[in-house]
Amino acid sequence: MKITKIGISGVLSVLISLSLAKAQPEAISPEDWALYQEGINPGEVFAEEVGGELFNKPMGKANKSCASCHNPDDMKFVSQIGKYPKYQKECNKVVSLQQRVQMCQAKYQKMKPFSLKSKENVAIVTYLKYIATGTKIDVDTSSNPVVKEYYEYGRKVFTTKRGKRYLSCQVCHEFAVGRRLRMQWLKPLGKGTLNGVQGTSAAAHWPGYRMTKSKVFTIEQRFQQCMKNAGMKKLPLGSKEMVALELYVTSLANGAEINAPGLVR
Ligand code: HEC
Ligand code: HEC
Repeated sequence: MKITKIGISGVLSVLISLSLAKAQPEAISPEDWALYQEGINPGEVFAEEVGGELFNKPMGKANKSCASCHNPDDMKFVSQIGKYPKYQKECNKVVSLQQRVQMCQAKYQKMKPFSLKSKENVAIVTYLKYIATGTKIDVDTSSNPVVKEYYEYGRKVFTTKRGKRYLSCQVCHEFAVGRRLRMQWLKPLGKGTLNGVQGTSAAAHWPGYRMTKSKVFTIEQRFQQCMKNAGMKKLPLGSKEMVALELYVTSLANGAEINAPGLVR
């Protein structure tokens, strides 16, 4: 196992921000507290032990494993991970990494793909982002008309106000950055600063292990949690709106180094 220890400063800052924000400690399982105290990110354990195992397991009618076609040490393969969501010629669409995994399951393993919200799909994608740690986010937003359309649509989803509180992602993650909401700072999601507030390069550390929920979530699931909190109807995982939004938010982190799964509140 190559579980890396997270730096003590990382653990401390997370713990400090947890105690400052008075997150419900009861939401954190005792097992996870034990892992943090040893400096271990439970999300990495999930990536290696659940995702890594599925990656190496022969499956489907073809009885082939992902590993039989993809070598996790091959940088040519690994460096593609940060390019998702990415345009795919065969379906003339932009697809998320989760959907690319489903395509390989259907096409090459000859099986019914794991659903986007299944533990299995999330584990495989977490594993892929984990092995891509250190490579860069590098999504294409303009090389063909389909990609451009997705990017512009994603920006539109980000900026459109809706729901019972008439909010958009933009209201909290652009206009109100630097302000506090229920004891949490509102931060920009990109690589740069906005109104003097450093962005989080969110796409670089999702899927992330949410300590307040003791579980790994994908970035689309994180979007859904924001939608729910903001009183917006949740967009379905994998919908065109969601993939476009993922492309847009990921593009904000272009150039950032992947460091996944993140350890997040
Ligand atoms: C029989 C071989 C085979 C198997 C099994 C397979 N793949 Fe693939 N995969 C491919 C090929 C070939 C491509 C290139 C795209 C294409 O032509 O469909 C690809 C593309 C990909 C990509 C995108 C790479 C890029 O350049 O954009 C990812 C990520 C990926 N596969 C992951 C997986 C995962 C995860 C599994 C197991 C769940 C898996 N694959 C199973 C053959 C395979
Ligand atoms: C009412 C304000 C509000 C709205 C609206 C909102 N968010 Fe958030 N969002 C937050 C807060 C607060 C956090 C938690 C910040 C933290 O973890 O410190 C957050 C966190 C996130 C994160 C994780 C950031 C990271 O670096 O890990 C992402 C991604 C995100 N939001 C995307 C979105 C998207 C996409 C939308 C629109 C669908 C949206 N948010 C709408 C308040 C909002």
